[in-house]
Amino acid sequence: MNQSVTSSKNSDHVVIITGGARGIGHAFAHRLAEDGFHVAIVDLHGAEEGAQALVRAGFSATGFKANVTNASDWDTLLTDIASSGKALHGLVNNAAMFASLDMQSFEQVSREEWMQVMEVNTYGPFLATQKVAPILAANGGGSIVNIASTSPLKGVTGMPHYVCSKGAVIALTRTLARELGDRGINVNAVAPGFTLSDGILLNTEHVEKFRDIGKNSRAMKRDQLPRDLQGAVSFLMSLDSQFMTGQTLVVDGGAFFV
Ligand SMILES: NC(=O)c1ccc[n+]([C@@H]2O[C@H](COP(=O)([O-])OP(=O)(O)OC[C@H]3O[C@@H](n4cnc5c(N)ncnc54)[C@H](O)[C@@H]3O)[C@@H](O)[C@H]2O)c1
Repeated sequence: MNQSVTSSKNSDHVVIITGGARGIGHAFAHRLAEDGFHVAIVDLHGAEEGAQALVRAGFSATGFKANVTNASDWDTLLTDIASSGKALHGLVNNAAMFASLDMQSFEQVSREEWMQVMEVNTYGPFLATQKVAPILAANGGGSIVNIASTSPLKGVTGMPHYVCSKGAVIALTRTLARELGDRGINVNAVAPGFTLSDGILLNTEHVEKFRDIGKNSRAMKRDQLPRDLQGAVSFLMSLDSQFMTGQTLVVDGGAFFV
């Protein structure tokens, strides 16, 4: 666990973004920094570099090397944030195993891989919320945004563990919305369609299988990019969405209508 850098332009309100070092998570970090939050990037790899990039752009950010499934990592980073004197405002549960997964039929997925995907993609956001919610409640409330996927809504083939994990994220969003509503915390999800993130662009199998199918299924027939998702998370982290909770916002250029 490492705290890296902060700029002189600190905001007093912190939003934690897991998996914020690259890809979609980094796009969220950039947008929330533009919105005036101090951004805490939590990632297994490149957290400090991700924060430094934001600081160089004139924003306020800190990087923490941490595993979202590790309780003591969460304790350390939340203690660091508390000692900074800033107030925690929100959490974006974005870190997940997806881009690095191989395509497999349901017969091929091993128990070990199933459990690993479930641990990162469902226990990670659950543990993060267990750790963060009491602090948000003590601060008078806040917002949690879980990054789901349209894959459980469509029933995409080739990665049943991933699809089930993202279905669980939507269910987690709903149950936690009910658990936390009385504590002033709203919990919502964003479900992206297939998005050309940094990780996806490294996986040619995913690009070949999903890019054209995704594009052709949309009302708006173009590639989805990380920046297409920024507005939804910005809104769900803002006071404008305070009375909205338990919802899943689909952002996919109009491929799937809820
Ligand atoms: N790219 C898509 O097509 C797509 C579509 C729908 C949903 N999503 C979701 O959007 C989110 C981001 O996707 P992406 O394509 O940018 O992925 P990515 O693989 O490019 O980035 C994921 C980030 O999470 C980090 N991470 C992974 N496991 C971690 C752990 N245990 N602890 C801390 N950090 C960890 C990685 O280091 C990486 O920086 C994921 O939740 C993904 O499921 C992506």
